[in-house]
Amino acid sequence: MIRLNIDHAFGVITQPQLDTYEPKVEKAMEMLHKKNGKGSEFLGWLNLPSSTDEPLIEDIEQTASLLRKCEIVVVIGIGGSYLGTKAVVEAIYHSFDWLQHERKNPVILYAGHHMSEDYLAELCETLENKKFGIIYISKSGTTTESAIAFRVLKKVLNKNSGKKTAKKFIVAITNRSQTALRTLAQKEGYKIFVIPDGVGGRFSVFSPCGLLPLAVAGIDIRDLLNGAKAMELLTGEEIPFKENIASLYAATRNALYDAGKKIEILANYHPKMHFIGEWWKQLYGESEGKDGKGIFPATVNLTTDLHSLGQWIQDGERTIFETVLSIENPVSHLSVPKEKDDLDGLNYLAGKRIDYINKMAELGTQLAHVEGGVPNIKITMPELNVYYIGQLLYFFEKACGVSGYLLGVNPFDQPGVEAYKKKMFALLKA
Ligand code: PA5
Repeated sequence: MIRLNIDHAFGVITQPQLDTYEPKVEKAMEMLHKKNGKGSEFLGWLNLPSSTDEPLIEDIEQTASLLRKCEIVVVIGIGGSYLGTKAVVEAIYHSFDWLQHERKNPVILYAGHHMSEDYLAELCETLENKKFGIIYISKSGTTTESAIAFRVLKKVLNKNSGKKTAKKFIVAITNRSQTALRTLAQKEGYKIFVIPDGVGGRFSVFSPCGLLPLAVAGIDIRDLLNGAKAMELLTGEEIPFKENIASLYAATRNALYDAGKKIEILANYHPKMHFIGEWWKQLYGESEGKDGKGIFPATVNLTTDLHSLGQWIQDGERTIFETVLSIENPVSHLSVPKEKDDLDGLNYLAGKRIDYINKMAELGTQLAHVEGGVPNIKITMPELNVYYIGQLLYFFEKACGVSGYLLGVNPFDQPGVEAYKKKMFALLKA
């Protein structure tokens, strides 16, 4: 099981202060589970892991096996529509996957998450004459970035394989209602998966939005769901405050926020975890940043960023706290070699595992940051595998719902996202 350690958050806050959040957390949990709080129509994600049934999983696996015949599959979507997939794929895949000679899985590429002309043009160039498929994920089907990418890539696919064949390799994932994407998919005859009611993009990784592309990527989605299901039980309403890691994380970060720590940096010590951080950033940023409130979620990749942001974290404005994602056991085994001429003076580490040194850096950084006035929360994963990632993602989702209610906002809407669109459309139509 993943574990939470809040010991090093104390100092800035005290245990009695944290205890004052217990009744508020209980209320928040009750609002989530009784579905009577703000945004309660968007709680479809709460039981997704335990309610995803066998026929849906089989349908996803069958569709995935067709798409797996492609050399490349492009996931089109923005925000929550693609970040869950990217987070899991990057965390699980070999770091140099694209250089592996005998590939077992199609290459997963992404589009529709920005509007860079160069990126799209280079993608078209890459896909020309390649056997590729498209998974187009959009609740609405009118999101500009994704809709433009789909128009462009559909043209390439039609040119590569002819419209009749192309449509077999396009899958649409959209809301149950008659969205623009559903209408288009029905007209063209694409396979459609439904985003269950009440599941917002950032809470959609355990729906077909995450499950289909992950199955195409060769990831065991049953294992992912099993991990999430275990966490669903562990963070249930009936689990007492002090044993419920989602409640404790939500309460601790709110207590720190109320004590003046307005920025949370999520730190990882493995580059493979970078997109877990990006997914987390969207989840918390879009859920909590409203009504003039909300912890600013930032991410750092360590030890890399200790050589860029390290100075700021150690000595800058004291408004931050740090949440570290720690992985207990690496999958590989590699030690520091001994050298005859010990020019860099590191022979004292010869024979030590790289991970041991990484762990000492992690501990040393924690000590230095805590001493420097940066409270620390630590989340430990026994290993970086699909099952524990399922646990981790669900843990963050649940804690986010509780945390948003503690803050007093509706964690499930995103009215602020519309502002740039209005201005952009006014400019485009002018
Ligand atoms: O998390 C969210 O709700 C958002 O990031 C949406 O996923 C994103 O804005 C894309 O919207 P749509 O699914 O309608 O294309």
